[in-house]
Amino acid sequence: MPFLMSATFTPNPASQALYQDQNADTEDRVEDLLDRMTIYEKIGQMTQLNITMINPTDDQADVELNEESARELIHQHHIGSFLNGEAVPPSQWFEFMDGLTRLASEESRLGIPIIYGIDHIHGASYLAESTIFPQKINLAATFNTEHSFNTGWVTAYESADLGHHWNFAPVVDLGVNPLWARFWETYGEDPHLGSRMGEAYVVGYQGNEEIAPFKVAATAKHFLAYSDPHSGWDRTPVQIGSQALHEFHLPPFQGVINAGVKSVMLNSGEINGVPVHASPEIVTGLLREQMGFNGVVITDWDDIGKLVDFHRVAENYKEATYLAVNAGIDVNMTPLSLEFNEAMLELYEEGRISEERIDESVRRILTLKFDLGLFENPYPRNDRLDRIGTEENRLKALKAAEESIILLKNEESVLPLTEPQNILVFGPSAESKRNLSGGWTLAWQGGEEERFPDEVHTIHSALKNHYSDTDIEVIHEIPVDGEESEQQAFFSRLERADMLIYAAGEKPYTEFVGNIVDLTLPSDQLDEIRFISKSSTPATLVMVAGRPRLVTDVIQNVDAFLFAGLPGFEGAEAIANIISGETNPSGKLPFSYPQHTGHFVNYNHKPSDVYFFDTDEANHIAQGAENTSLFQFGEGLSYTTFEYSDLELSSDRLTESETITATVTLKNIGDIAGKESVLWFLTNKVGRYTRPVKELKHFEKVELEPGETATLSFQIDPHKSLAYPDSNGEPILDPGEFNLQVESLDIDFRLVD
Ligand code: GLC
Repeated sequence: MPFLMSATFTPNPASQALYQDQNADTEDRVEDLLDRMTIYEKIGQMTQLNITMINPTDDQADVELNEESARELIHQHHIGSFLNGEAVPPSQWFEFMDGLTRLASEESRLGIPIIYGIDHIHGASYLAESTIFPQKINLAATFNTEHSFNTGWVTAYESADLGHHWNFAPVVDLGVNPLWARFWETYGEDPHLGSRMGEAYVVGYQGNEEIAPFKVAATAKHFLAYSDPHSGWDRTPVQIGSQALHEFHLPPFQGVINAGVKSVMLNSGEINGVPVHASPEIVTGLLREQMGFNGVVITDWDDIGKLVDFHRVAENYKEATYLAVNAGIDVNMTPLSLEFNEAMLELYEEGRISEERIDESVRRILTLKFDLGLFENPYPRNDRLDRIGTEENRLKALKAAEESIILLKNEESVLPLTEPQNILVFGPSAESKRNLSGGWTLAWQGGEEERFPDEVHTIHSALKNHYSDTDIEVIHEIPVDGEESEQQAFFSRLERADMLIYAAGEKPYTEFVGNIVDLTLPSDQLDEIRFISKSSTPATLVMVAGRPRLVTDVIQNVDAFLFAGLPGFEGAEAIANIISGETNPSGKLPFSYPQHTGHFVNYNHKPSDVYFFDTDEANHIAQGAENTSLFQFGEGLSYTTFEYSDLELSSDRLTESETITATVTLKNIGDIAGKESVLWFLTNKVGRYTRPVKELKHFEKVELEPGETATLSFQIDPHKSLAYPDSNGEPILDPGEFNLQVESLDIDFRLVD
């Protein structure tokens, strides 16, 4: 009989052990419980197994408990954690978690509760009827941390009751390589932006108090530099110097650690020849000792196994286990066998892994379970399931989507499109729901179209819903190679339209499934865009994709260009609201949009990155080489115009113990209200290490009515804004000239000894 209220589980006081006393100190409870555990029970707590080990089939879409296998794994092997599943109705998750919980909390010897891991990365992605937010690349494009906070908060609000207490989010890897299949899971290429957005997510998710009595754990992943593979392919080698690692890839992880993230998942790949899962220097030395992380470290999927057959740094699973535990992992996402448990027992019996080392990890795991209140509140509850998918939550996702879409071109203000009679829609994303949400939506690689809720719009249906009096039609067949008569008939239809909208893009993917060899938008789409834009009717290109597919060859052919990214379930409505002008776009690029297939640089590149020997240019850095991007980091248009003026400093010099304040005036000189993200960049003109040509150091978003003015400020603290790490992570401050930029204004100042 499912519980209608939270079944707070209080053992019989007479037989109560210290660890069962919720009023005792967590430390004391952990030590008391550790003392009672066998070594095999301890090893079980370090093990996470996939749902396919406890469901009737080997399909992780089956969220149904195979009690027999679950009972054996929990009672005989003392497994402490399971993961995964797919989007099934709340009641089904409730039944599954209720049964699993009973086996652990009531029927096992010590009643240690299960902790369930799941990838609810942009809303409760694996829960039907839930609110699905834009993916993180879109959240970053809002330059408004409120939307990352809301994503975390709503995710907890809609999934904590169902026993989903360990969420494998946020990704705080840097989106520095646009080829990478998980680019869209990042907050873009800038460390400061990634830090602020990641912190907001963790605070929103872990700090949600409406889910009481439950608490939840976020996971910063994938530690670290996973996102900068040399080849651009997922999980392939990363070569990066220690100074760059500290300066660019480490800050977002430090940010979420400072924000209290409770767990960290490791990078499956190798850095400079050493797999992260086998690196005591990275896992213990850097993450724990230098960065101060004392929570739970979990491997990624089968990454001990990968040390054998992928990285080949271990002869067999047992040796790989030794390497990973010696590196400092706590939980092994095994996840499809008991190899780890067997290997650990052997290594323990051989004296190669001590009980003391095992206790280190189990202590952290039990502390997490006590901190989340899982001993007192292990059971799911189904008396508040009306929280899932509320209109209030949906509107938060819609607002995030609207602010995440970036208007990059708008010739002669063809947008917003007011009172059109006839719109023609083309392209692979015109009638797709799944393309708008990307991977990790309903299922790992994105659910099939038919699994998406009826109320989720496609771009076509959203336009029809918005422009109710307009004739809006999708044309699937574009006669690029058709007979002349066919082409003439086609163009005559186009001439009668007021706007042609080509919804380009990608089908969902994640991880290695999304590996590509060319960032260029597929040629069939480019051909179609080129073809339809021969018409005199204005054409708008909408890019629905997880990464900036190249459109250099056609950008001149279209009148407007919207990078929509992966805006989630409310994405189509957001796109329609922007096209119609109901929403004034305010998104800005959180990455550099490449122009060429063979060369791109991030906005915060080094001066020598764009050394281009051009005999026509005296300084050999050809004009325009600086802008090897098609569109720049921070670029994004509005339907109104913002004027920046009066950039001033409280002083033009400071010592390292002083701060100065910069102010700038922003005015909406257009005739409609708009939101503007004000981005503050700094340049260190001469550094001991080569310095980025500019670095984002502060951002703030404001909404201004027509004619309204605001003064914004940024306090420059040398230790926060001017210092950078050496190869050991020690801060460096270079006395000398600095330059502050806001939009097209800039001002110099000096750091003096
Ligand atoms: C995957 C991903 C990781 C995810 C985990 C569990 O391999 O790399 O991001 O959290 O497995 O699904």
